[in-house]
Amino acid sequence: MSSQLAHAVAEMGLSDFEHHEVVDAIPALDDILTVVAAEFCAHLTALAEARIDYRGLARPMRDHWLQLLRDGIDAAYERRVMRIGLAHRDRAIDPQTYVLGYGWFAARLVEETMRRSVLDRAALADLVATLLRLIFLDLTRVVHAYGVSLLD
Ligand code: HEM
Repeated sequence: MSSQLAHAVAEMGLSDFEHHEVVDAIPALDDILTVVAAEFCAHLTALAEARIDYRGLARPMRDHWLQLLRDGIDAAYERRVMRIGLAHRDRAIDPQTYVLGYGWFAARLVEETMRRSVLDRAALADLVATLLRLIFLDLTRVVHAYGVSLLD
């Protein structure tokens, strides 16, 4: 992991992040991510002015989050977020559009996780706080990749 990512992880309060604990706390993780990613891609498809079908993106989106939670914040994660930033920038999806889209995805992810959870209130609050930290980390790393690529 680069020192820059390590700094972002620390700033986001994720230095003690135990990804196995999140996986254990969300037994329906795979299904939740499948549903939320599919809904998000259907939402993008419905909004698209050109007749673009984004539904094929649901799988790679789900896989990115599954890998983050199953493997943690590692070198592969760092490579992935760079690739995701470049893929979106190359398709002229500006950072504002990406951030708005992420807001939609994040809201549904938290909503669906809370709805299905059987954790007590304190444990659920911890889990949601960790999800929010991960969401903001992921978002900033992808947006960072836009800037890096512009300097190429
Ligand atoms: C808001 C408008 C968005 C549009 C129009 C859009 C469009 C796209 C497109 C066209 C690709 C295909 C890249 C390729 O060919 O490899 C892609 C990939 C991807 N997108 Fe988005 N995206 C948007 C937002 C988001 C958001 C908010 C997230 C995260 C929550 C996201 C996560 C991903 C991931 C993980 C991939 C797979 C990249 C890879 O594995 O290489 N996208 N997106």
